[in-house]
Amino acid sequence: MTRNTIRDIRAMKKSGAPITMITAYDYTAARLIDEAGVPLILVGDSIGQTTLGYENTIPVTVDDIVSATAAVIRGNRSAFVVADMPFMSYQVSREDALRTAGRLIKEGGAQAVKLEGGSAVVDSVSAITSAGIACMGHLGLTPQSVNQLGGYRVQGRDEDGARQIIEDALALQDAGAFSVVLELVPSELAAEITEALDIPTIGIGAGSECDGQVQVFHDIMGLSLDFTPRHAKKFAEVGDLIIDALGRYMDEVEHREFPSDAQSVRAQRPQAGDNVTELDVASGN
Ligand code: KIV
Repeated sequence: MTRNTIRDIRAMKKSGAPITMITAYDYTAARLIDEAGVPLILVGDSIGQTTLGYENTIPVTVDDIVSATAAVIRGNRSAFVVADMPFMSYQVSREDALRTAGRLIKEGGAQAVKLEGGSAVVDSVSAITSAGIACMGHLGLTPQSVNQLGGYRVQGRDEDGARQIIEDALALQDAGAFSVVLELVPSELAAEITEALDIPTIGIGAGSECDGQVQVFHDIMGLSLDFTPRHAKKFAEVGDLIIDALGRYMDEVEHREFPSDAQSVRAQRPQAGDNVTELDVASGN
């Protein structure tokens, strides 16, 4: 099996084939995603809430993303893997941005990186892409700025806000971004940006007319127990399945039904005449 490349992603925009992207943060999910054949993975800084138990993405470190990306790469042979650049790993300087992007590619094994923001980050996008690293933008609701935005709110509802997002999208494209995530923007605005750009738009809470869609794995699998955003549809209730299975496991342990003989090994008693030098415990007898 060969891994998707940036050329495959570009070709999907050209042919009009919708692009599916999903987040992943660990080996097991990455393997399942491989089996399903999803072409694009984001090792998102949403790892903060989904996996590390933080309130938001702000505390996530570059080390967190490097180690999650390496696990995802070990579990998935087919997807094009994009790694998120965490808060404050690129905002201070182009040098920081380049260093972070380099770590995610060299140590994590990602095929591309993603950062949030518009005009404020175009110089960094330019530096990253000039260094030969594929870079994805992220506009609209940018969760790393949650405190400045005053919550997880729809962006670009008024004319000025919408114009700014369109200009930012074009600037990211000019700086060399290969794609841009549009998060929580009105669908009409997402459609206009998708039409205006040559690079693919990947929407989350941005309507159906983006070139592709990205969702947080835990949200669509029913693993986000405390809160599921309105834009996420639960395609499975895996959380409920796990809670039920854990209850049955505990019940069997408490009633000494598990492990049964099928999951146990017994020492083989030597028979008269046997030349036994070692007890056979591997066969389960
Ligand atoms: O971190 C993440 O999961 C993301 C998506 C919401 C696009 O950035």
